[in-house]
Amino acid sequence: MADRKIGVLVSGRGSNLQALIDNIRAGVLPVKISVVISDNGAAYALARARAAGIAACVIERGRFADKAAFEKALSEKLEECGAELVAMAGFMRLLGTYFINRWPLRIMNIHPSLLPSFPGLNAQAQAIEYGAKISGCTVHFVDEGMDTGPIIIQKAAPVLGNDTEDALSARILEQEHLAYTEAIRLWAENRLEVSGRLVKIK
Ligand code: GRF
Repeated sequence: MADRKIGVLVSGRGSNLQALIDNIRAGVLPVKISVVISDNGAAYALARARAAGIAACVIERGRFADKAAFEKALSEKLEECGAELVAMAGFMRLLGTYFINRWPLRIMNIHPSLLPSFPGLNAQAQAIEYGAKISGCTVHFVDEGMDTGPIIIQKAAPVLGNDTEDALSARILEQEHLAYTEAIRLWAENRLEVSGRLVKIK
């Protein structure tokens, strides 16, 4: 059976994208990345995609009159490339109604905290400031809220006594790179069953 196709949305560094590329190459993630789309022309993730021979394109929000028009362009590009799942990997925008209605339970995001703790920006700094002893990462389906959709996989990482934001981010990132592959592999193997906000792994 042909590998299922996914599209990846990025805005920056792209280390999660790289982990997916590496795991596909290593034969542990049975999907094909058919397109990488960035909303930022300077994203290093674009170079990673091109180096791996993956179609990469830039779709900037500023070129569109409103959010729906921007999301329509994103959606059309993904469809044109045959994507069945959209993986947000450091994509720094909240998707709106247009996009979410078009890709129901077909958008995943990775967030650097154990949701529902510390949603939104700077999740690692939030965990340190709050005094959490354990944080980690969450892969979830995307709904219209900020990091609120059904949780697929979580992995923990300790918060150490004298942690800096950078040190904790790096520790969590190692877990992110494992978790995203695991979640997408479960999807590719048709092993995710969603009922309300509960995701059962078959
Ligand atoms: C990751 O920490 C991810 O959880 C968050 O944005 C960061 C992206 O990192 N959503 P990278 O671009 O994948 O290296």
